[in-house]
Amino acid sequence: MKYVYLNNGLKMPMLGLGVYRCSEEDTFNTVKSAIDNGYRLIDTASAYENEEFVGEAIKYCGVNREDLFITTKLKNDDQRADNQRKAFEDSLKRLNLDYIDLYLIHWPVKEKFEQSWIELSKIYEEGLVRAVGVSNFKEHHLDKLKEISDLTPAVNQVEIHPKLTQKQLLEDCKKRKIQIEAWSPLGALKNNILENEVLLKIAEKYNKTPAQIILRWDIECGIVTIPKSSNAQRQKQNINIFDFSLTIEDIRAIDNINENERTGSDPDNFTF
Ligand code: A2P
Repeated sequence: MKYVYLNNGLKMPMLGLGVYRCSEEDTFNTVKSAIDNGYRLIDTASAYENEEFVGEAIKYCGVNREDLFITTKLKNDDQRADNQRKAFEDSLKRLNLDYIDLYLIHWPVKEKFEQSWIELSKIYEEGLVRAVGVSNFKEHHLDKLKEISDLTPAVNQVEIHPKLTQKQLLEDCKKRKIQIEAWSPLGALKNNILENEVLLKIAEKYNKTPAQIILRWDIECGIVTIPKSSNAQRQKQNINIFDFSLTIEDIRAIDNINENERTGSDPDNFTF
């Protein structure tokens, strides 16, 4: 495993398990098997409605709490209802934890995300969370936070995959000392990314799969990545990316797959 140090010194694994769209029935086994397979970063959200099953898996996984890195997120309706504090406490309860490693504002809800950031800052100061950050924030959202607070988000989790490389945002966040994390690193498979010829060719060269090439490309670009898989074999495959490196030419070739194509919503225009 590789690690990054966030802007407050917290050590974060660079690869973890995302559990978006992981059903109630699947979540416990999915998280338990991921931890058995060496995953230590687990990324959930209140909106995924599976926090309690993540919590169960944490309880029974046999790994010490301090060796795990747990992320969850504040959902949009709780921002709209000014319910940030209670929403955090409810997440803690559902996860059955004393603290969260990383708590994120899930989406920049207009005219609300600023207040949410103030509330997250308080929760951070109280020590209930080891780092706070944001998700789906563009540069102008980050500018707003800078105007109202001295606390810089530790992480910005955004959609990134070879068809949406977000290089400008990545550079901007590097300057701001905000760690970028990729959700849907495999493009949620909506855009046939795993059949891309450039990726297939690079995969053949290293005797790896296109999924492994994408995840390794994230690591080489300094991006924390959280592929979702409920399948133990694919979980093993996705974490087995620390025994090879890509060349600069490979990285450039993958960068060039970019088509600015989102599989999810645009953070300036979402309806949930
Ligand atoms: P499954 O859970 O059956 O493995 P993303 O994280 O980009 O949203 O992608 C998640 C999707 O990709 C899931 O449908 C998951 O299915 C699938 N997936 C995860 N890892 C791999 C892999 N190594 N090869 C093929 N499909 C994968």
